Amino acid sequence: MRSYKAKMVEPIRLPSREEREAALEEAGYNAFNLDSRDVFIDLLTDSGTGTMSADQWAAMIRGDEAYAGSESFHRLAESVRDVMSFEYVIPTHQGRGAENVLYGTLLEEGDVVPNNSHFDTTRAHIVNQGADPIDCPSPAARDPDSTEPFKGNFDIDAGWALVEEVGEDAIPVVALTITNNSVAGQPVSMANIEAVAEFANDIDAMFVIDACRFAENAHFIKEREPGYEDVSIADIAREQFAHADAITMSGKKDALVNIGGFTAMRDEMVYEHAKQRAILYEGFSTYGGLSGRDIDAMAVGLREAVTPPYVEERVGQVAELGDLLSERDVPVYLPTGGHAVYLDASEIFPHIPKEQYPGQELVCALYLEGGVRGVELGGFAFPGTDRPDLVRLALPRRTYSYEHLEHIADTAEAVLEHADEYTGLEIVEEPPMKELRHFSAKLQPVSN
Ligand code: F0G
Repeated sequence: MRSYKAKMVEPIRLPSREEREAALEEAGYNAFNLDSRDVFIDLLTDSGTGTMSADQWAAMIRGDEAYAGSESFHRLAESVRDVMSFEYVIPTHQGRGAENVLYGTLLEEGDVVPNNSHFDTTRAHIVNQGADPIDCPSPAARDPDSTEPFKGNFDIDAGWALVEEVGEDAIPVVALTITNNSVAGQPVSMANIEAVAEFANDIDAMFVIDACRFAENAHFIKEREPGYEDVSIADIAREQFAHADAITMSGKKDALVNIGGFTAMRDEMVYEHAKQRAILYEGFSTYGGLSGRDIDAMAVGLREAVTPPYVEERVGQVAELGDLLSERDVPVYLPTGGHAVYLDASEIFPHIPKEQYPGQELVCALYLEGGVRGVELGGFAFPGTDRPDLVRLALPRRTYSYEHLEHIADTAEAVLEHADEYTGLEIVEEPPMKELRHFSAKLQPVSN
C-alpha cells in the first residue's frame, strides 16, 4: 500500500501497434530517439524522472534567487549536514558536474582511481583529468545466479593487487558507488564501506563516495546486514558517510528532484580549491548552475529520502516489479537492485548472437509489445566488453502504480511468447565515438 496519493496528474497514452511500429522505425530502432509522447511507460532512467512531494513544490516558492549566499543554499547546506554529515557543500547542475568539480580538484595526470564500479560519467571525468579509473567489483557481481546480499561490494583484494601494480602514491582517491549502478543496482554493505575506508586510509588516499542512491543502499543494509534491523534509515545513512572524506551526488536520484547535484567534503582546503573550479564550470559556489528553487527542492528531498516509509516503498516497488516478472518466467538478474530490474536478453533470445544485439532487440520488443521504454546496458552500450546483455527497467520514484507494473510484466511476458519472431539488429549508422553509440546510433532488423 502506498503512503501517498496523487495531487497532480500527467496523461500518458499507449499508441496503437501501428503507431509504435512507425515510431520505432523512425527512431532507427534506438529508444533514445523516441519522443516521450510515443512512450506509454518510461523506464529509461530513474534519474530526474520522479515525482516531487507537495512539500518540495512548496519549498520551491521559497527559493531565494540571490546570486551569492542565498537562503536556499543555507537550507541545502543544513540538510547535507543533518542527513549526510558533511560540513562543506557546493551545489552543481547535476551529478556529473559534481564529478568534474571534485575530481578536477583532486586528480593529476597519471593518477589511478579504484572504485567498486565507476558509473560512465565518473569514468569519463576521471579520464578527462588524465587519470585511470579501475573497477574492482566483488567477484559475486559477475555471477547472475549468486544471491549474495551485497553484490555491489568493492573487492578489497583487487584494490591491494592494484596497489602492488601501480604503487600507493599513484592512488590519491579510492571511490565507492552506493548502490552500484553498473552492477544491476546492487548494494554495498556497511562492513564493506568500513573496509574500503580502512584501505583508503592505509594507502593515504581520500575516500570518496558516489552517493547517488545512498538511501536505497541504507535500506538494504537495514534489511540484510545483521545488527542494523532496528537502526533507522537516517542513522544508517549517516553512518555510511561517517567513513568518507567527500561525496559526489546526483540530486536526480535520492534527493528526489528533477535536476541538481552537489559535492560535499570535510576538508576546508579541498573545499576552497573545489570552489574555484565550481565557479569556472558550474556557477558561483552557492548556486552551482541551479536556481534557488531547485536547491530548495533538493534540500527537502534529501530529508524525505531518509524519512519512513519513503525508501521501503521505493525499493519495495522495484522488488514488486521483479516478482511480477519472475512469476511470468521472465529471466531477471537476482536479487533485484534498488532502482531497477535488469532482464537477461540472452536468455530471452537465445537464438540471437551477441553481434546482433539481443539486449537492444529486447528494448525494441518491449516498446513494440507494450509501449514500454527500457535501456540496453550490454554489448551495444559497451562495445568491445564481454558484459552480459542486460536490459535495465529503471523505475522513476513515486510515479507509477501497481497496474503499470502489471502492464510492464505482461509486456515482457508477451515478448517471451513471441521471442522466436525477433531476429536481432544490425547497426546502419553510428557516431565516431563508439562508446557513445547507444545514445544515437541507428539500427535495423536483421533480415532472415
Ligand atoms: N553516478 C551514478 C552512480 C549514476 O547513476 C549517475 C547517473 C551519475 C553518477 C551521474 O549523475 O546524471 O546527475 O549527471 N545515472 C543516470 C542513470 C543517468 O540513468 O543511471 P547525473
